[in-house]
Amino acid sequence: MFKKTLLQVTLIIVLFFYVPFNLYSQNARIKIDLDRTIAEVSPLIYGNFVEHLGRCVYGGIYEPGNKLSDKSGFRRDVMGAVKELKPSIIRYPGGNFVSNYNWLDGVGPKSERIPRLELAWSTLESNLFGTNEFMEYAKAIGTEPYFSVNMGTGTIEEARRWVEYCNVKEGPYYAELRKKHGVAEPHNIKYWSLGNEMDGTWQMGHMSAEDYTKKAREAAKLMVRTSPGIKLIAAGSSNYRPGADPDHWNQTILTELKDVIDYIAIHMYVGNPDTNYYNFVSTPLVLEQRTKMIKGLITQAMQTAARGDRDPIYIAWDEYNVWYRARRGTFATGKNALEERYNLEDALVIAGFLNAFIRNADVVKMANMAQLVNVIAPIFTNETGMFKQTIFYPLQLFANNVSGTALDVFVDSKGYSTPRFNLGLSETTAQLGKVPYLDVSATYKDGEVTLCVVNRNKDQAITTDILSQNGTFSGTAKVFEVNGPDIKSGNDFNKEEVKTVEKAPVNASGNKITYSFPPHSFTMIKAKMAK
Ligand code: AHR
Repeated sequence: MFKKTLLQVTLIIVLFFYVPFNLYSQNARIKIDLDRTIAEVSPLIYGNFVEHLGRCVYGGIYEPGNKLSDKSGFRRDVMGAVKELKPSIIRYPGGNFVSNYNWLDGVGPKSERIPRLELAWSTLESNLFGTNEFMEYAKAIGTEPYFSVNMGTGTIEEARRWVEYCNVKEGPYYAELRKKHGVAEPHNIKYWSLGNEMDGTWQMGHMSAEDYTKKAREAAKLMVRTSPGIKLIAAGSSNYRPGADPDHWNQTILTELKDVIDYIAIHMYVGNPDTNYYNFVSTPLVLEQRTKMIKGLITQAMQTAARGDRDPIYIAWDEYNVWYRARRGTFATGKNALEERYNLEDALVIAGFLNAFIRNADVVKMANMAQLVNVIAPIFTNETGMFKQTIFYPLQLFANNVSGTALDVFVDSKGYSTPRFNLGLSETTAQLGKVPYLDVSATYKDGEVTLCVVNRNKDQAITTDILSQNGTFSGTAKVFEVNGPDIKSGNDFNKEEVKTVEKAPVNASGNKITYSFPPHSFTMIKAKMAK
């Protein structure tokens, strides 16, 4: 009788305290081991992209005549924000645009430049901004240029001539033409991609994998002979829609171009059209899945490659972002094309993508957020000003803080099940099982660990023990958080609901930091290790 009562009382206590505690709060563990390294983080993962599309160039980075612009026509306010993002590399001039672009139209005296019908995004291209204007901009912001050649309507000789114009000091016709255009020294552009998304039927000059490899190999031969030492990026397939065969394309180009190229380019855009928050914030795991699949294909191709002492082929995620609202109808083409406005959940997805790049630092050596201004971009302008979109903040935090050695962290966090991921245009099935609420990456540099944590949980904070496996933390750790009142909160010209806030530093002595990650947040913790 007494035993029975004791049992009942115990049960009541458990139900009373334990169940509500678990409903309203959660615990997790993150273990950091400085010996468990992945690879050095490539600085080129903080790249960006400028395409002749909508108001990215004209009305974005370049607006001659505007009071906010400098004497070269560059928007000073925009340039200030761009510099805060510290883009390590900028891809130019497309995208789909490049597949109908003749670079010669964009050089020489502006009065002689010919406007052309632009068929990718249905506009009139004035050509008032071209190679030398872009290079002036790249120098002003201190970024590495990355050019894409036209493998659609363009010829391999056209591509070769562009390399000569940019990289050969003097002598041949196109090098001398650059000098005649007032640019005495060569631009020395190191990174060149062999076209853009050539697997897609939407691409001008679209072709089969076999035809692409044939043309790309010959273009590469001419380009490298013109400027030895350039790095070449092949256009991979990112088309995982039902019925597509991206593996065939990627395997073919990796097999056929394995001795020629340095990177394979992959793209990914995700969205939340059916308002399913938990599916949406899981999409960085799909990017990670694809990274691993491509890595497998690279490993296979490397078995029979003859690359001498060159690095293996790496992955360039040279277009990634959230893009689904401004994707169809009047938002898809023309002057105001692709003017996506972002909210907090989008920023969490971007933080997740960046975490995935760090976790795969051994193979992801370049990434470019698409794009820089106005067009699916972190910076948005009108004629009188600009504002920073939500996705600006995680990118800025990573680019300014996350470098050094990527660490393979252990994460023990509760999770949720989400059977499918909606990637914008079509639904893609990706069975991932349980998705952890905490998405984590860590790096180590100069005696400091930088931890990047997305708490995907929409409603609950997660109290987490961050445990060092070798070495103790020292002093206090700095904490930065990107968050907002609601997952749908966003920014505008006169409103900033989502931004980075520096929080109170936390105690970081001994081998444990305990921190409570708020719901729907991205947090960066920077902790020094004792010597
Ligand atoms: O970034 C927008 C477009 O998306 C690019 O032009 C193209 O490469 C991709 O499909």
